Amino acid sequence: MELTPAEALKRKAAERALDFVESGMVLGLGTGSTVAHFLDLLGMKLAAGALVDIVGVPTSVRTGRESRQAGITIIGLADRDRIDLTIDGADEVSPALDLVKGMGGALLREKMVAQASDRVVIIADASKIVDRLGTLSPLPVEVVDWGQGGHIRFLEAQGASVSMRMMEDGPPQKSDNGNLILDCRFADGIPDPAALDQELHNRAGVVETGLFLGMVHAVVVAGEDGIHVMERST
Ligand code: 5RP
Repeated sequence: MELTPAEALKRKAAERALDFVESGMVLGLGTGSTVAHFLDLLGMKLAAGALVDIVGVPTSVRTGRESRQAGITIIGLADRDRIDLTIDGADEVSPALDLVKGMGGALLREKMVAQASDRVVIIADASKIVDRLGTLSPLPVEVVDWGQGGHIRFLEAQGASVSMRMMEDGPPQKSDNGNLILDCRFADGIPDPAALDQELHNRAGVVETGLFLGMVHAVVVAGEDGIHVMERST
């Protein structure tokens, strides 16, 4: 099947990320359409015997299903103390390799898996690169259902315009953890992501934010001009 230009770029980034994978690794498997290409390509390498003895920790029900379809053995996060390498997508990537994630709704498990990983590599097409976080994508914030109106007012007081993630047929969309996701738009982006992240985490009822700060080791970016690997400097 012919890929759209955007899908072809995602697949190129995914293909390049396979260079980071070695036989015997425990892999964190992110969520989203870019990661779906990675799972497909990894499955092909495993089937060909070019990589062996790989197990994956999926970050969502969706990724678990896609991994099984690709022939990747999956385990739970609790089954291993450490993950060698996580490959995940992103909604925004800043020059410092900080991210906004969670438009696929898997931010909590994605962050838990990233935190347990020795190395985190992000795959993205060039449209995800921004100068300032929050300018392109809303910031997803996972909150408990109880007291939801209060969470929305709290987020609005932080300068966000907030919309609750909904199913296509009407009701609120629940994450794999049974929580709500509030998408927060900031008119001029997020001036101080670390301060905002801290503020949000201080509030009981906020389960997790889509700000991934200082967690990423490399970003593989596929654009019209080729593939670039951005590496964290420190
Ligand atoms: C899911 C995510 C995804 O990685 C992010 O939304 C990017 O997805 P895609 O590759 O489909 O653009 O954070 O929670």
